[in-house]
Amino acid sequence: MAKKVLITRIIPSVAQELLTKAGFDVIVWEGSPMNQSQLIENAKSVDALLSLGSNKLDKHFFNECSHLEVIAQFAVGFDNIDVKEATNKGIPVGNTPYVLNDATADVAFGLMIAVSRKMFYLHKTIERGEWKQFEPLKNLGIELTGKTLGVFGMGRIGMVMAQRCRGAYNMNIIYHNRTRNEEAERKLGCTYVTFDELLQQSDVLSVHSVMSEETQGVFNKSAFNKMKPSSIFINTSRGKVHNEDDLIEALKSGVIWGAGLDVTNPEPMDANNPLLTMPNAAVLPHIGSATVEARNGMARLAAENIIEFYKSGTMPHCINPGVLKK
Ligand code: DGY
Repeated sequence: MAKKVLITRIIPSVAQELLTKAGFDVIVWEGSPMNQSQLIENAKSVDALLSLGSNKLDKHFFNECSHLEVIAQFAVGFDNIDVKEATNKGIPVGNTPYVLNDATADVAFGLMIAVSRKMFYLHKTIERGEWKQFEPLKNLGIELTGKTLGVFGMGRIGMVMAQRCRGAYNMNIIYHNRTRNEEAERKLGCTYVTFDELLQQSDVLSVHSVMSEETQGVFNKSAFNKMKPSSIFINTSRGKVHNEDDLIEALKSGVIWGAGLDVTNPEPMDANNPLLTMPNAAVLPHIGSATVEARNGMARLAAENIIEFYKSGTMPHCINPGVLKK
């Protein structure tokens, strides 16, 4: 009998096409996003799940759905999944790296420029009818050429951001990681620094790390206080890596110069959040991977993770590969 796969939202059709062609019975949830009990109820009757970052796959989910044979997440991030519990239940979990590196780095790069020239805010001043005459001393931004980019989490996306900043602005690149990234050092001339040095030396500090117990809330009051008053903070990874109240305070009091966020805490952001009206902030609604190319690539990789698992017992991109070896 054909294996059943549940896709929890409508995603690019390539996923369904590939799975159907490979002989799977594919169910696409077309309604509004499922809450956890709906998800559990629907997942009970399938063998495999193609999940999204908005699905909560926690201990309770895995206790209820331990029958699942494989999970393929339509995202590179997986902080919505209790991977330890999945592993305890022997369920391999796949993700979709590489295909969204360019798209996400573009958003970080774009936010950096937008903040450095207050673009989002100044656009709003025109809408409010406030553009009256040339202003020699108002609306001044800061230039990026020759400045120092600090990357927190020098992985695949961080490296693309570093490459763009080096090429466009000849920026000096420093980074902080759990482990050194020799490829970034060799190919891009990046320099490894301690976390405190990263805070103290960066003109632009761009976050590209995963969200984990180790990284949750690391950009807090004490971290912002160590940054330059002329510095820009960019986060395109996960909102929980920064403390949003501390960030707002740092921006209001001039502890740092500006901030650009594609990820917020919580998501979605409240429409009354002060960051949306501050001259030195630019916020986007988590669109890092939102290009036709990236989303098609993510759908393809998620489907391939499931297909390959059933074909050979391996997965092109598995987060808990130890499960596969058993
Ligand atoms: C990811 O893939 O993790 C992006 O944040 C898109 O959700």
